[in-house]
Amino acid sequence: MISSPFCLRALPFGMRLGLSALIGVLAIGIAASIAHVHDHYENRDDRPGLTLDDLEGAYRGLDRPAQLLTTIEAGHPADLDPESKKILGDWLRGDRVVESYDDLDLGDFAPAELIAVHCLQCHSRQSTGESAVGERLPLDYFDDVKLLAYSQRVEPTPAAVLTASTHAHALSLATLTLVVALLAWCTSWPRRLISISIAAIGLGLLFDIGGWWLAREVAGGAGVVAVAGSVYNGGTGLVLLAVLIDLWLPLKKDTLPPPLTDPASGGD
Ligand code: HEC
Repeated sequence: MISSPFCLRALPFGMRLGLSALIGVLAIGIAASIAHVHDHYENRDDRPGLTLDDLEGAYRGLDRPAQLLTTIEAGHPADLDPESKKILGDWLRGDRVVESYDDLDLGDFAPAELIAVHCLQCHSRQSTGESAVGERLPLDYFDDVKLLAYSQRVEPTPAAVLTASTHAHALSLATLTLVVALLAWCTSWPRRLISISIAAIGLGLLFDIGGWWLAREVAGGAGVVAVAGSVYNGGTGLVLLAVLIDLWLPLKKDTLPPPLTDPASGGD
């Protein structure tokens, strides 16, 4: 029983050392792929940081006009004269939002000036009165304005690229996870815990990679990818840690996993 190949702790020292080193390499790989996901998708929308919109944009594409533009076009504020409305609209639709914001050549018609005249009585941090919204929606500085001035237009990842990525990731990650699952099963952790964990990471990977395709078709699919990917990565990390711990715990007779039942002997 002690030499059972199904008990990691019973493996010779060299095997346990080698397996531990390989788990270390996997941990490095997981960290690198998380960093890669972050860098790769971060700038799909124009906002800093990895947001759901970045993922949504990567899979489905995004075409979301700037909030300032939709608000102005919807007729807010009610007393905005048509000329200023047109200038602000053209500015926000154009691709020189930063450069033209306080363009001196535009004089009183520079967006910054128009905003000062038509918006700041309510949208300044200094505004007071019942329609003051400067606390929540300030437009005092370009740093405020730009948060609402971004149009988000993102082309989705071409299907051919996604196919190539699916082919590489589905095969390698499923194989890797299979090995992780087998290792976990050879530990002395409670069977139920192992089986719940493996169910979670297996389903996590299925919905992660399946979600890439789902997200092309269905709004909100990117959320599925984000949740499933986190479950998969987090779960795999924890299972690997559990395997690593188990490799180096002392071998006791009662920590051995239950022997496999032999169907020929009547399940006894
Ligand atoms: C008379 C006061 C007033 C003026 C002038 C005004 N706003 Fe507003 N603005 C408001 C109020 C009140 C809201 C509603 C805030 C809320 O959602 O509760 C608002 C909301 C907004 C919003 C957010 C809309 C949304 O989608 O929720 C934007 C963007 C905005 N204003 C831009 C502007 C711009 C640009 C101007 C100038 C061209 C301007 N506002 C002028 C009072 C004003």
